[in-house]
Amino acid sequence: MILGVPIETAEGEERVALVPEVVKRLKGKGLEVRVAPGAGARALIPDAAFADAGAELTDDVWSADVVLKVAPPTDEELERLGEGSVLVGFLNPLGAPATTRSLARIGCTAFAVEAIPRISRAQAMDGLSSQSNVAGFKSVILAAEKLPRFFPMLMTAAGTIPPAKVLVLGAGVAGLQALATAKRLGAKTTGYDVRPEVAEQVRSLGAQFLDLGISAAGEGGYARELSQEERAQQQQALTDAIKGFDVVITTALVPGRPAPKLVTAEAVEGMAPGSVIVDLAGETGGNCELTEPGETVVKHDVTIVSPLNLASSMPQHASMLYARNLLSFLDLVIGEEGQMELNFSDEIVAGACVVRGGEIVHPGAKSAVEAAA
Ligand code: NAI
Repeated sequence: MILGVPIETAEGEERVALVPEVVKRLKGKGLEVRVAPGAGARALIPDAAFADAGAELTDDVWSADVVLKVAPPTDEELERLGEGSVLVGFLNPLGAPATTRSLARIGCTAFAVEAIPRISRAQAMDGLSSQSNVAGFKSVILAAEKLPRFFPMLMTAAGTIPPAKVLVLGAGVAGLQALATAKRLGAKTTGYDVRPEVAEQVRSLGAQFLDLGISAAGEGGYARELSQEERAQQQQALTDAIKGFDVVITTALVPGRPAPKLVTAEAVEGMAPGSVIVDLAGETGGNCELTEPGETVVKHDVTIVSPLNLASSMPQHASMLYARNLLSFLDLVIGEEGQMELNFSDEIVAGACVVRGGEIVHPGAKSAVEAAA
């Protein structure tokens, strides 16, 4: 069986789906790996490193049995995908119905990394988690860079500097990593989420948990969208709380829905001059009312940073972790003899499959396609 790794062509995408370490492991399983020349360049992985690991460097990667991608395929990339091929990558099944429709038209079988169920057995394949970890770390570095103050408490001959107060809204994988990173930099940290089980995880990272009395656990371990009344109550309580923080990092997402607006314009106005907001939810509209996705803006003397695809800004480790996620997924679908064995009675294989032989089989992707029609 042949695996193909194209150059990522989506704007701003620096990552690559496989790294040499993982290529070597796949070769050890008897698979052939083709990598497009230059595919690793933006992640600082030279072609020679892929060749040394046993990959064949060739532009003929789209005719492989399995094409491994990071970002959802662009229209040009979709044109190169053959009927009967298998695609694995981030496909945004709930938010990109046109891509799903194209994949079905082509007649391929496509697995979305973000649709892999969040169950223990799938942890090693969890690309959302590995990339959220990168984004959570980097969000704190961005905040520290913009903040005109120290993060740690300093006791100096010129007097004592108090630690920065950092609030993280949404304590999923990215939020928990942001809390851990801010703590390592010496900040006083507080976390907030609507899933009650998160409180203990927040506290285990040495942070306080902000309890606003709103509980919104949804399906599959995710949060549900709040009712209008809950949202108003949450916004008011957060507006009061946010005043006391130097840095607010927001990571709140609800699958398939616009990002919840947690930080109102009034809350931004209430923050001290020089404060920083890093909004990781820009791709789905942002958690802050004044966020301009992809931009850094200053409003009411508060810097609001909204990076898109932040994981891609650390492409070496982001690619390494992602490639290991793919290796774990491939282990599940490739048999002893190095042949594809798609067992659709396995909840991971079934859950991750968006299009099977041209048929849209993922319920959420199907609904998104129907809604867009
Ligand atoms: P996510 O990226 O979908 O959302 C980030 C956070 O925002 C979540 O914690 C969510 O509860 C929170 N949120 C949503 N709406 C909010 C609101 N209105 N106000 C405040 N917070 C809000 O979440 P992520 O990081 O993808 O994690 C989702 C779930 O998956 C979690 O339960 C996590 O523990 C679980 N998980 C399970 C894994 C496994 O067992 N394989 C691996 C990784 C995560």
